[in-house]
Amino acid sequence: DEIFDYQHRCSVDGTEWEGLGCGTTKLLIKGGTVVNADHQFIGDIYVEDGIIQTMGPNLPVTDDVRVIDASGKFVMPGGIDPHTHLEMPFMGQESCDDFFSGQAAALAGGTTMHIDFALPSDGDLLKGFEIYSKKAKKSCTDYGFHMAVTTWNENVAKDMELLVKEKGINSFKFFLAYKGSLMVTDEQLLQGFKKCKELGALPQVHAENGDAVAEGQSRIFAMGITGPEGHALSRPPVLEGEATARSIRLAKFINTPLYVVHVMSIDAMQEISQARQSGQRVIGEPIVSGLALDDSKLWDADYKIAAQYVMSPPIRSTGHDKALQAALSSGILQLVGTDHAPFNSSQKAQGRHDFRAIPNGVNGIEERMHIVWDVMVNSGKLSPREYVRITSTACAQIFNIHPRKGAILPGSDADIIILNPNATTRISASTHHSRMDTNVYEGWTMKGNIEVTISQGRVVWENGRLHVKRGVGRYIPMAPFSYLFDGLDKLDLEYVSSLKAPVDRSTDALTSI
Ligand code: URP
Ligand code: ZN
Ligand code: ZN
Ligand code: ZN
Repeated sequence: DEIFDYQHRCSVDGTEWEGLGCGTTKLLIKGGTVVNADHQFIGDIYVEDGIIQTMGPNLPVTDDVRVIDASGKFVMPGGIDPHTHLEMPFMGQESCDDFFSGQAAALAGGTTMHIDFALPSDGDLLKGFEIYSKKAKKSCTDYGFHMAVTTWNENVAKDMELLVKEKGINSFKFFLAYKGSLMVTDEQLLQGFKKCKELGALPQVHAENGDAVAEGQSRIFAMGITGPEGHALSRPPVLEGEATARSIRLAKFINTPLYVVHVMSIDAMQEISQARQSGQRVIGEPIVSGLALDDSKLWDADYKIAAQYVMSPPIRSTGHDKALQAALSSGILQLVGTDHAPFNSSQKAQGRHDFRAIPNGVNGIEERMHIVWDVMVNSGKLSPREYVRITSTACAQIFNIHPRKGAILPGSDADIIILNPNATTRISASTHHSRMDTNVYEGWTMKGNIEVTISQGRVVWENGRLHVKRGVGRYIPMAPFSYLFDGLDKLDLEYVSSLKAPVDRSTDALTSI
């Protein structure tokens, strides 16, 4: 991988771990503020064989152990990004980070696991899953998959069952947008929700009304607006609000929990808020671009700059960002993803004369942990513990891999970051590790820096250098029936008993004729 030539050599040939202790498997992280979602303390963590063995004050040190001084720093679970698209074929292009470069970028930014969306191949889920499993063989950190469902038939239902029972899948994404490619109808969505519920798998929705988006695109293009700004104008928040409301109500009708991906607008957030207030189990996932950016760059006179910001649902006008931040701090929204779907400037050039052809997606897998720290913790909106919850623990709980992931506890995987709150971070395409040639956070400067990333008990990021190795990333299977499914059977019974008894008409006038 030529892009790693300027990096430490061991990340290039992938043959051996060397230098700077990157091969060491016994680590003592000393004197840091150890932060979990529910508790923090100052002390040490001992790691061996990729697992956190013990933690506490003043742990003993032996000769063969590498000691990392973390005093004055936060020691936290590695980030888990619930929403990425590596090597994704989409809109005539393939996202430019593969499972190696995207994950190397993730590690450089403190994310030690991600859950990618495997797309079906010609509607075939199992085939799609196998294609993605093969792509992911080059992984340098742990990963899982959600599976997309883009049509409905008996084979889809059968494959869903097999994927859940034998392949470690416990979530399925339904697109209500992308008419003519990925979009499902309400009928297909209902079938999918029913199957998910039966299997204990969490249905996820991309909530935009795809029919209305197509109408909006024709309308805006016909007005002569052909540039990237047309993307935002053609699919306003009302279409996200509508689809969010619809999917929430259909989930209620089926009595299944629901996960709304990339919540980008006040409209969608308020639907989630209202449903949660009424007691419905709806999870809302904002993403970094929605929390930290506004749509102003879409009006930049330079196409290359403007096109970078094209994603769906669109990045909204200023005000939506602040409202999403507030919803995250108040618990209306539960965890932060990125929707990392990187298309470089030559790929984005495909839509130079028609915004409808710009591949949708922004970068973020490398920036998420830093930007969220800045926007939410430096601003005083969240504590470090809450930061751990929204960047790692909540994701692990929702997808049923906690406490293996998302926690610093004896027995948990040693996926750990060390964040220095007093160091400075500056984000730029000239220094990032993704294959992208641009960065939507270009020039972002902030207090707080993730100085060390430990994945599977190995130091993979330190002193601004990566020590990553192809093929060591593991597929993390995720079991069905997470906590979100507890008690659903009782609610089903309550529903049945709430139905008024059917009327016996065997003796009415019509019958006796
Ligand atoms: O623009 C986006 N979000 N691209 C990735 C595909 C999706 O809808 O998540
Ligand atoms: Zn989506
Ligand atoms: Zn996405
Ligand atoms: Zn190394």
